[in-house]
Amino acid sequence: MDVLQKIDATRKDARDSLARVENERALEDWRIEFLGRKSETVSVLRSLGELDSDLRRKAGQAANALKTELEEAYRAKQEKLAEAKLRKTQTLGRIDVTLPPRPLSSGRLHPISQTQRDIVDAFVAQGYSVIEGPEVELDYYNFEALRIPKDHPARELMDTFYIEGGDRSDQKLLLRTHTSPNQIRFMEKNRPPIRIVCPGRTYRNEATDPTHEWMIQQIEVLAVDEGLTLAHLKGTLFEFAKRIFGQDRKIRFRCDFFRFVEPGVDMSIDCFLCGGAGCRTCKKEGWIEILGAGMVHPEILKNMGYDPDVYTGFAAGLGVERIDMLRRGVDDIRHYYENDLRFLRQF
Ligand code: FA5
Repeated sequence: MDVLQKIDATRKDARDSLARVENERALEDWRIEFLGRKSETVSVLRSLGELDSDLRRKAGQAANALKTELEEAYRAKQEKLAEAKLRKTQTLGRIDVTLPPRPLSSGRLHPISQTQRDIVDAFVAQGYSVIEGPEVELDYYNFEALRIPKDHPARELMDTFYIEGGDRSDQKLLLRTHTSPNQIRFMEKNRPPIRIVCPGRTYRNEATDPTHEWMIQQIEVLAVDEGLTLAHLKGTLFEFAKRIFGQDRKIRFRCDFFRFVEPGVDMSIDCFLCGGAGCRTCKKEGWIEILGAGMVHPEILKNMGYDPDVYTGFAAGLGVERIDMLRRGVDDIRHYYENDLRFLRQF
């Protein structure tokens, strides 16, 4: 094979090989093979000096033409590969605006939050304002200022979580067992007339059962003014119950005892499950207690700097979970905080 035939063979080889190149790496290998220092094209150019003049001229022209041709083919292929790469990334990132959007999964309020808001609204509609207080509370506000001194048996009714290492001088720090400390916190800083509600979490170290949880939401109600009586307390709570439960539910008031009220009462609603006959949920009583209440103890009014001969007040502490159970027919309080979506999605 003479040198001109060799150049033609190289051209054919290079063309065929380039047609098979599919990526940048293969293209670089191709460049080294056909245009690199050790390539056939370059070695022909190097060996021109050994040829006689006529052939040298022809072979020189042919080899240079091949080199230019292959360099152009190389650049063209390079562009083609880059273009293909770009097209691929554009296709991947392209947004088809005609496609329907993916549905957003929207959340909703927890049933207890819904009922908490409805109860608060029932009082706001009667002229009450909403306040909030701390969940981590001082012994003074949770017990002492409410006439429950240390070692008093009334403390046993509310098994308490204390904060380890949280003592403030002679004061223990604890998770509030009820929202009643907010009565004191508010009266300390304000003067009658007072009409407030205070919603929030409370904690008790107690065993759970269908109507008892260790963490519950309460709503404290407090009204202090001239001439308030037990009749105002009853009227206010009846109005709340009517708004939440409707006209047809039965309501029961009974005497109860709380150190910070005199007299004290509790309010129950007829059991939704057994209609009052007695069952596991109402513990065979036929009624479910939803709140404790009473007239603010005159000694507390005095401690707050109010004259108990002029001012009287009433207070109540409502259990939101129990109210929600009665409203929706939930047979076990423990369902609320198990976070089972099959339960929560019903509401
Ligand atoms: C109190 O907590 C008083 N602070 C209420 C009060 C306020 C009385 C103002 C007088 C004046 P009691 O422990 O009974 O009281 O709780 C009030 C309500 O919270 C109960 O009627 C009940 O509905 C709810 N409750 C209390 N403990 C639990 C519990 N472990 N699980 C579920 N609900 C509870």
